[in-house]
Amino acid sequence: MIDFDGQAAIVTGAGRGLGRLYALELARRGASVVVNDLGSSMDGQGSNPAPARQVVKEIRAGGGVAVASLDSVDSVEGGQAIVQSALDHFGRLDAVVSNAGIFHTAPFDELSPEDWRRMRRVHLDGSFYLSQPAYRHMRAQGGGRFVFIASSAGLFGQPNSAHYAAAKAGIVGLANVIALDGAAHGILANTVLPFGYSRMVTETVGERHQLGEDLPFLKAIEPELVVPMVVFLASTACTFTHQSFSACAGRFSRVFVGLGDGWVGTAPTAEDIEAHLAEVAATEPFIVPGSIFDEVADTCSRLGIPL
Ligand SMILES: NC(=O)c1ccc[n+]([C@@H]2O[C@H](COP(=O)([O-])OP(=O)(O)OC[C@H]3O[C@@H](n4cnc5c(N)ncnc54)[C@H](O)[C@@H]3O)[C@@H](O)[C@H]2O)c1
Repeated sequence: MIDFDGQAAIVTGAGRGLGRLYALELARRGASVVVNDLGSSMDGQGSNPAPARQVVKEIRAGGGVAVASLDSVDSVEGGQAIVQSALDHFGRLDAVVSNAGIFHTAPFDELSPEDWRRMRRVHLDGSFYLSQPAYRHMRAQGGGRFVFIASSAGLFGQPNSAHYAAAKAGIVGLANVIALDGAAHGILANTVLPFGYSRMVTETVGERHQLGEDLPFLKAIEPELVVPMVVFLASTACTFTHQSFSACAGRFSRVFVGLGDGWVGTAPTAEDIEAHLAEVAATEPFIVPGSIFDEVADTCSRLGIPL
């Protein structure tokens, strides 16, 4: 059995929705959990201590160990305070689930700079503010695991959410580099692209009962179905890093960025690109680069350039 006995974990945005379920399951499996939640509205307004405190109550009622953190992830001080809470209460930090998030939609031409900044601040800046102090501690401790909650919106695109998608895609870039930098220190970083029925769904598309039987997909995306992926990646059973996984309605699958074989030209012109478009745009064969160096190595090998 995968357990977290003697380990401490942080889950941000754990007062509601999917984050609450990650926190409950980590605690059930023995982790001491910092339940962080600002208690804001779906689009990031206001604050409320009740959701984080309620989840801590639930965990304690089940015999688990948890402490509430009401800090916002969207500042340097907030990120530090969340990490410090784990150290103060549990004396260690083994896993971080960076999950806190907000949502809002607007057609691209109506998106305000403030909407853009608010979204980036919570998702991308917040992931950095939290992960840097956590990384420093994990490095000194000899290792740890990050699970960053990204989104299919960021990797595949979603209409009317350029700010959300850009911030979520940025999180994948952040996780990739933490995975590379952390490899020598036993620090692993992976991302999850979840689907789960939460207020992010109800406040965007409507309640299940309003939609009737029209959208069976909504019935399928039980938020509990995301939990196994996140818990596995947060555990010491997970030994890989630098990967992304979709967790949607009980389907778990790798999401990756591939580099196609492409076409190699000598003194190529725009017309050559047009003439070789099939090869340039082909998605097979491909490799999945583990870093920028794999792309360089692959290109050198295609061109016969010694490394
Ligand atoms: N639900 C989905 O289908 C879905 C899909 C893709 C990605 N996600 C992502 O999963 C995560 C959880 O989403 P959810 O559906 O459970 O939403 P949710 O709104 O139910 O929960 C998000 C929680 O984050 C908290 N939060 C917001 N800003 C915060 C801040 N600055 N500091 C600390 N806490 C903050 C909120 O108070 C809330 O309790 C989010 O990052 C979201 O973008 C969800």
